[in-house]
Amino acid sequence: MKILVTGAAGFIGSNLCERLLEDANVEVVGIDAFVGPTPKKFTFQNLDNLLKHQRFTFLRENLLEVEWEKTLEGIEYVYHLAGMPGVRSSWGEDFQNYVAFNILATQRLLEACRHVSLKKFIYASTSSVYGEKRGKVSEELVPEPLSPYGITKLTGEYLCRVYHKSFRVPIVILRYFTVYGPRQRSDMAFHRFIHAMQQGMPVTIYGDGAQTRDFTYIDDCVAATAAVMNAEGVVGETINIGGKQRASVLDVIALLEQILRQRAKLTFIDQAIGEPKHTWADISKAENLLKYQPAFNLEAGLKNEIDYIEELYQS
Ligand code: UGA
Repeated sequence: MKILVTGAAGFIGSNLCERLLEDANVEVVGIDAFVGPTPKKFTFQNLDNLLKHQRFTFLRENLLEVEWEKTLEGIEYVYHLAGMPGVRSSWGEDFQNYVAFNILATQRLLEACRHVSLKKFIYASTSSVYGEKRGKVSEELVPEPLSPYGITKLTGEYLCRVYHKSFRVPIVILRYFTVYGPRQRSDMAFHRFIHAMQQGMPVTIYGDGAQTRDFTYIDDCVAATAAVMNAEGVVGETINIGGKQRASVLDVIALLEQILRQRAKLTFIDQAIGEPKHTWADISKAENLLKYQPAFNLEAGLKNEIDYIEELYQS
């Protein structure tokens, strides 16, 4: 079985490829252009295990330039994880990259997929499409993104929907909620917090730190994502993938202080523009359709990320 993963060198993409290859019948073609905010050195390292794998082929290509007809030959499943990530950096001039990588690239890939008989096309979306909501969010709520990033990801979702409706591309949309763990991008909160604390440097908190996130551990995220392949009744659906433990930013700092046995020096700055105060996933659909059950609490997940970051900056 041949699977294409776009964004294969990324945080979620590289972990997903490793997981998919655990099945001896699977061959993975991974594509990545190394365009995200993480230093390339770190992103290259994400591929270390994969490049040794006989059933993994890597293409360093920009999705806007790929010869899709050739690349999609024999592919049965597409995981489209590539994109320009990050909520806070999507304002200003960088927006054109968000449009290019999240909208144009998605449209080109979908257009090519019209002509291929795929089993599933899985699109990685985000909790950022919801905007500010009260309580748990279920998939039927009207999305109201607060950031340019959220708008581009939502547009990607709508593109998936129209290609599904008009050309039967068998799409499945997953909305991930703030994923963390080993290989987390270096612009994301936990990566920054842990690295700063390990260096004895101040930790920057946006706003008062009372904002909460439905933090999702990478192995849970990957388990849900891999489960889509064999799940029934998922084509055309949008599914939230949230974590086991929702927490505030200050809760996380307190937990890090406990695990690392040191006090964090905190610097509070203005709240970031375009972020919701709270995110909270209703995961009943994922439980039903994907038999998803998040297993990792924050303490276990943070310990693994701490080990990863310690090693990353030593190498
Ligand atoms: C993350 C990802 O960056 C997005 O790509 C993804 O789509 C999104 O999750 C999502 O789930 O929708 P975010 O929730 O901002 O976005 O994730 P973090 O960077 O881990 O930030 C978590 C919280 O920590 C935010 O409330 C942010 O304000 C705060 N934060 C972040 C700080 O207080 N200080 C920092 O240095 C960084």
